[in-house]
Amino acid sequence: MTRWAHVIGTGGYLPETIRTNFDLSEMVDTTDSWIYERTGIKSRRIAGEDETASSMGEIASRQAIEMAGIDVQEIDLIIVATSTPDRVYPSTACILQHRLGIQNCVGFDIQAACSGAIFALSIADQYIKSGIAKKVLVVGSEVCSRVVDWTDRATCILFGDGAGAVLLAASEQAGILSTHIHSDGGYEDLLFLPNPQVAAVAKQGEAGYIQMRGNEVFKVAVNTLGRIVDETLEANGMQQSDIDWLVPHQANTRIIAATAKKLGMDMDQVILTLETQGNTSSASVLLAFNEGVRDGRIKRGQTVLMEAFGAGFTWGSALLRY
Ligand code: UT7
Repeated sequence: MTRWAHVIGTGGYLPETIRTNFDLSEMVDTTDSWIYERTGIKSRRIAGEDETASSMGEIASRQAIEMAGIDVQEIDLIIVATSTPDRVYPSTACILQHRLGIQNCVGFDIQAACSGAIFALSIADQYIKSGIAKKVLVVGSEVCSRVVDWTDRATCILFGDGAGAVLLAASEQAGILSTHIHSDGGYEDLLFLPNPQVAAVAKQGEAGYIQMRGNEVFKVAVNTLGRIVDETLEANGMQQSDIDWLVPHQANTRIIAATAKKLGMDMDQVILTLETQGNTSSASVLLAFNEGVRDGRIKRGQTVLMEAFGAGFTWGSALLRY
């Protein structure tokens, strides 16, 4: 009998404040048409002063728990993917555990930049398949707006805030079919977020904002995501046509379109959220999955390919039967 990590609930949260491309054109030298044509983004959400990765993650988690119809005490593992934790320690997962009122459970954060949700799903899958955990809450939550330089037009147009959650349960019903995760630290200089408080690592005068050589990142992302599609299909003995939905990391519509093309998919088989959310880093795949599930596009029994690429570089995929 196979033991699967089966999806029993999903959730998502977006802060109230909307920042449009027009708003940005009053802050930096840019235009709505440049941003939309180059990225596919029209607006993004910005967290309120009191909002954090854990507070947004809590709302997304409660939705997933409610959909699953379980008692929170049944959750035995919480994995939070974030690059913008409330504090360095305790982990955002510990803070979230307390917010949710769960007594007997373990929680930890993982950091894989924009690939964080895929890495977290991969870890959750191993814990469930090995029999160590029965119910795992995976959360991606980011307040990117706090680590974006709002005077840098090359990066501030891209990012947004939000949280996504998925609840997985050990089941005889199919779930995660395979995950594939990778990293290559040789690309550190193309995309990084300095930690200025760590003096030994931070370069003199480096501010704590996202630094990116976007065009170079773009090219590596397109090639790498093409390869991860091949790797995932091959590992499962599947054809392109076996995939019902692509749920990609939402960084740029042109990157997403290239992956969809590689899968021979129309864009209407792709869950796209970036037009109104921007790039929410480790939250983006889970937010998109939640949207597809809740609006009824993703149906039980369908096959979903999730993929992401981010700083590190890190990249990966998760293939699942919903
Ligand atoms: O999620 C983690 C992974 N991150 C990504 O996947 C991001 C990948 N990269 C991208 O999405 C794209 O590279 C960007 C959207 C960031 C940029 O698009 P691009 O087509 O690669 O533009 P570029 O960086 O080559 O810049 C083209 C021009 C430059 O001007 P010159 O040198 O041609 O005169 C930039 O200075 O566009 C200029 N530019 C802008 N103009 C208006 C850069 N940012 C802006 C802006 N508004 N916001």
